[in-house]
Amino acid sequence: MIPQTDPKGGYLAQRAEIDAAIARVLEGGHYILGPEVAALEREFAAYIGVRHGVGVASGTDALVLALKAIGVEPADYVVTVSHTAVASVAAIELAGARPLLIDIEPRTFTMDAAELERALAAPPGRIAAVVPVHLYGQPADLDAILPLARRHGARVVEDCAQSHGALSGENRAGSRGDVAAFSFYPTKNLGALGDGGMVVTADEALAERLRALREYGWRERYVSDIAGANSRLDEVQAAVLRVKLGRLDADNARRAALAAAYDRGLAGLALDLPARRAGASHVFHQYVVRSPARDALRDRLARRGIGTNIHYPLPVHLQPAYRGRLATGPSGLGESERAAREVLSLPLYPELDDGALAEVVAALRKLA
Ligand SMILES: Cc1ncc(COP(=O)(O)O)c(C=O)c1O
Repeated sequence: MIPQTDPKGGYLAQRAEIDAAIARVLEGGHYILGPEVAALEREFAAYIGVRHGVGVASGTDALVLALKAIGVEPADYVVTVSHTAVASVAAIELAGARPLLIDIEPRTFTMDAAELERALAAPPGRIAAVVPVHLYGQPADLDAILPLARRHGARVVEDCAQSHGALSGENRAGSRGDVAAFSFYPTKNLGALGDGGMVVTADEALAERLRALREYGWRERYVSDIAGANSRLDEVQAAVLRVKLGRLDADNARRAALAAAYDRGLAGLALDLPARRAGASHVFHQYVVRSPARDALRDRLARRGIGTNIHYPLPVHLQPAYRGRLATGPSGLGESERAAREVLSLPLYPELDDGALAEVVAALRKLA
């Protein structure tokens, strides 16, 4: 059996160091928001290339708190995409604002900047922010999105849950918008052994507000200056993440090498292979092909013991909780709906060995 993803493999690859880091925390006696979290915040912010990192409980909370920190109001709209994890959209409502969902570029599966321009030209109300999602490991078109948002007075909150370490131009994804949200869910390129997330920003005032928002609105202990939540990162997860951060670039290089091997092995088949955006790097959180015969292909691969996944089978605007009640972009969401019918994520993780990849390729060459 070849799984589609393998978070346990990531633990085993660094087992001795991770076990030692966990033991250090357990023996240290400080379990929440302590020295490990502070060090991870410094190290991860420096890695992304911004001054501030604020550790929180999940990627969803990172988005919610980022939106609250920039000051979205209940009547405000926040533009994002529908072809994404439901969290990207759920976070907008959890922050008290209204999602406006626009379509994606079919080749990269990320926000269509031309559609953003049309949406900003005919807004249903005040658009407070734009949330580009760097899906599957590839940055959205920030060269186009950032100036459009700025021209319309909207802040940019990058959803970096799937793009740890990717480059957008010369800079890391997460360093170009006003603020960025990362998830450390175990399967992510930088994954904890439980839930976790981080907000990063170059803006000192935003960082200070985020630190208050994640812990009861406190600036000073037991004094709630603003209405906050409990969204803290714990010391065990931070210690694990510090170990794994040391391997992130090597892991991403391995993911890129595996993706290149898939590209070579699958060339010429009736499958669309992942497109690379010029001027950006792709860290292959997922290797996603598309096929109109996706469901049959997935079943046949499963019968041969090859795990795949569908990210995501139903766009957010068609999910039962959201269907028919969210604002959508001027051209509709046809590309998002088509992507949901055709995408297939193949096995991809740093510990996938060359022989297993060759098996997946051989199976696809017979079946696709
Ligand atoms: C694009 C995207 N945004 C947000 C999230 C939310 O992260 P978390 O699961 O850590 O809350 C995820 C991960 O599930 C994601 O893939």
